[in-house]
Amino acid sequence: MQTTASSGGAFQSDKVQQYPAEIYGSPDSEAKINCSHNDNTFTRILWYKQSAKDLQLLGYMYAGAGKLEEGVNMAIKGGANKDETCTLTIKGLNLNSSAVYFCAASLH
Ligand SMILES: *[C@@H]1O[C@H](CO)[C@@H](O)[C@H](O)[C@H]1NC(C)=O
Ligand SMILES: *[C@@H]1O[C@H](CO)[C@@H](O)[C@H](O)[C@H]1NC(C)=O
Repeated sequence: MQTTASSGGAFQSDKVQQYPAEIYGSPDSEAKINCSHNDNTFTRILWYKQSAKDLQLLGYMYAGAGKLEEGVNMAIKGGANKDETCTLTIKGLNLNSSAVYFCAASLH
């Protein structure tokens, strides 16, 4: 599978950084993507998955707690304040995991 990162999408793309840019994983393994930003007005990091069909909100990190949308088999850890690292873990990789994943920073 391949994921391609685009830093922050339409949101504040100059301030949001995402690592690594591309990930390859074997089936049933997991993949991690980090996201951070350098704007102290932002306290929330959102994660999205973009596939050919749609753009899906996966969940977000706020105040040290990750919140996932229903049915999303992933983990969101870390922090969402300036210079903190938020990590998205994509679990149980399969063909459906192949997509563009991106993060965005926002005000709460
Ligand atoms: C992602 O962040 C974690 C926690 O800060 C760090 O241990 C890890 O090395 C980072 N990975 C990458 C690819 O930057
Ligand atoms: C991929 O997603 C489709 C549609 O949601 C589902 O029917 C299929 O079982 C999924 N495949 C895998 C390998 O999870």
